Amino acid sequence: MSRRRDEMLKEMGLSPRWRLRARTDAAPAEEGVTPGPPPAAEERAVTPHPSPVSGTDDRRARIMRMDWPALKACVAACTACSLHEKRNKTVFGVGDENADWLFVGEGPGAEEDAQGEPFVGQAGKLLDNMLAAIKLKRGQNVFIANVLKCRPPGNRNPAPEEALACEPHLQRQIELIQPKLIVALGRVAAVNLLAREASIASLRGRLHQYRGIPLIVTYHPAYLLRNLPDKAKAWADLCFAVATMKGLENRVSAST
Ligand code: URA
Repeated sequence: MSRRRDEMLKEMGLSPRWRLRARTDAAPAEEGVTPGPPPAAEERAVTPHPSPVSGTDDRRARIMRMDWPALKACVAACTACSLHEKRNKTVFGVGDENADWLFVGEGPGAEEDAQGEPFVGQAGKLLDNMLAAIKLKRGQNVFIANVLKCRPPGNRNPAPEEALACEPHLQRQIELIQPKLIVALGRVAAVNLLAREASIASLRGRLHQYRGIPLIVTYHPAYLLRNLPDKAKAWADLCFAVATMKGLENRVSAST
């Protein structure tokens, strides 16, 4: 590894001490479910939801009118898919409700399900380090959410009907936050937000849009814990995100 790359990884807290020893976090789709590098994992199929409409139009319309307290209560009481049967806690999301930055993961793992907060396991520690590397901090101008608010048993990938049932919650969160930039963590988050099938390799390094909001795709922290060579790519994605945010801010200040 070159010295420069070594330094970058250190800055992100991505030195080998963050390598996952025991599998406790949710398993993002591109990363495979079992520890160790899965064969051709990034190309594994994730079926995106067929359309942005989920549940009945009435349910969606109701959710789209909710304020924060109503939305939180709605998620806490949700029984729209079978994941509610085995959950301990719903994981609504956490952070600054007026954040410029929104990071979206896949779904709660065991620790998140126990605590009711996203990214509190090993992957969460790495996410916090990734945030720190770009001078961000959980809760300060950052909101962290997931595609799913309930844990899929065994940390399997979200089923299309589960993602579909949960999609209005995430959409309403995004409407309420109005972030300047969304960072999709992993392929499951990316394909669900973009509502199209693609490999993470083809999605990274480009500026996408979610309902008019700029969106950047990077690897899921749980994947990075097991795939050292891709950590430098994640750093490049974060640099791209910072540059994009700067550009957005400059555009706003130039027009005022
Ligand atoms: N993985 C995710 O995608 N989300 C979490 O909240 C935790 C692990």
